[in-house]
Amino acid sequence: MPKLNLFDIQGFVARGYTFPCASFLLAEILDHQAGRNFVGRVTRQVTSAERWDSKPHSTLNIGFTWKGLQKLRLPDATLLSFPVEFYQGMRARHCILGDVGKNDPSNWESVWNEDIHVWLAIYAEGPEELARRCDEVVRLMQETCGARLLYTQQAALICIDGKPTSKEHFGYTDGFGNPDFEGVERKTVPGQGKLTPDGKWAPLATGEFILGYPDEARELPVCPVPYLLGINGTFMAYRKMHQNVASFRKYLAEKGSQYPGGEEKLAAKFVGRWKDGTPVELSPDRPDPDLVQQPSRSTDFTYGKDLDGARCPIGSHIRRSNPRDAFGFNGQLVNRRRIMRRGLPYGAYTPPDQPASDADDHGIVFMALGASLFRQFEFVQQQWIEYGNDARLGNDKDLMVGCHNGGNDGFTVQGSAEPGNTPFICGSLPNFVDMRGGEYFFLPSLTALRLIADGTVDPR
Ligand code: HEM
Repeated sequence: MPKLNLFDIQGFVARGYTFPCASFLLAEILDHQAGRNFVGRVTRQVTSAERWDSKPHSTLNIGFTWKGLQKLRLPDATLLSFPVEFYQGMRARHCILGDVGKNDPSNWESVWNEDIHVWLAIYAEGPEELARRCDEVVRLMQETCGARLLYTQQAALICIDGKPTSKEHFGYTDGFGNPDFEGVERKTVPGQGKLTPDGKWAPLATGEFILGYPDEARELPVCPVPYLLGINGTFMAYRKMHQNVASFRKYLAEKGSQYPGGEEKLAAKFVGRWKDGTPVELSPDRPDPDLVQQPSRSTDFTYGKDLDGARCPIGSHIRRSNPRDAFGFNGQLVNRRRIMRRGLPYGAYTPPDQPASDADDHGIVFMALGASLFRQFEFVQQQWIEYGNDARLGNDKDLMVGCHNGGNDGFTVQGSAEPGNTPFICGSLPNFVDMRGGEYFFLPSLTALRLIADGTVDPR
């Protein structure tokens, strides 16, 4: 098992911060020299993955687009060594990602037309600390004349009855399934790594998530040169996804009234988890609050004994995005398609007893980390979310997050002969989620940040 230098890896890469609020700052580098100075000043404050003896009040992390690295004048040989999808960026890859029609980049928020070079993430224990830390970073931009703030995206856990929760805007509990990988200080949680031949779970190879280490194919992931720039870094897909809560609730109520299992069960079939997070595969008929409280059980399941989707539909969101052993070979086909999620909701929550509108500005800031955007995030998005062939679902897309332009798409609850579990087809899907914009970022190690700041990246 590789021993990771946690002082060199950005904290955001190694762990999900459990802070209630965050700001994501998008900025433009104004000049290469001043920009390097700005990066250098920020680097001194960047939160690493080192163990916390006491939790800080806030954290700071940074990532760059390819254009940002170009603006900082990294050598051409280095720029050319980055993977092509990162160089092209999310906008240029929109057809691959299914961002078409309503989700076409021409409909994204205007900031995504600008020269986005830097992403800065600030997480904090509360709004005051968040504002203080954001002001500090913006002041650094001004003092160094190195960068210009283009946009601030606020995000926060949804509060219900005054308490922060892990709910997203459709009402589901989120944040269970995230992969375990070797080298991070964390106990392996059953169901979060890869399946072993004896049916147990083991962490995935470090190189699936951090550059410079062997991945599941025992190869080193494609890494920019020099090696020192890439090692301990990773890539991130950032997507701002608006949620049409009114449409979702209306559709669910309408179909739920026709579905023999009722609305809540149908909602569970859509996602593969009941709204409280109980996995449908483990408890297909009702939520199980005891089970969901136990991290050792809430992700510990497979689909191998449910290949026809009688318990958990084949097209449900979590089965599509992490099919586990559903495609055979003891789950080995999915080990190189895992993504590390770091999402946070944005916008005000509309409680279920209050009228919702699709125009309400709320959704998820979805962030997926991995050593290869192409092999991990793009594959999951293109093949499993926006297409159903691997699961033998033809052109069917993910009900909840797929881009259903035209309303011709459907979703099948395979069901069984059991009462209340009748097979059921949901047709004429509207878009429940709309893209507001996004980009690919490289999150370098702290060493790499210093090289960038010093202008000493040398590919020779
Ligand atoms: C608005 C957009 C989205 C919403 C509301 C959403 C919601 C959820 C929910 C409620 C869960 C179940 C909780 C959990 O297992 O942690 C989940 C799991 C997951 N989602 Fe999403 N999601 C969204 C977008 C996406 C996208 C775009 C992808 C991939 C490209 C994705 C990939 C995953 C994965 C990999 C899991 C964990 C599956 C597992 O390991 O069992 N999600 N999501």
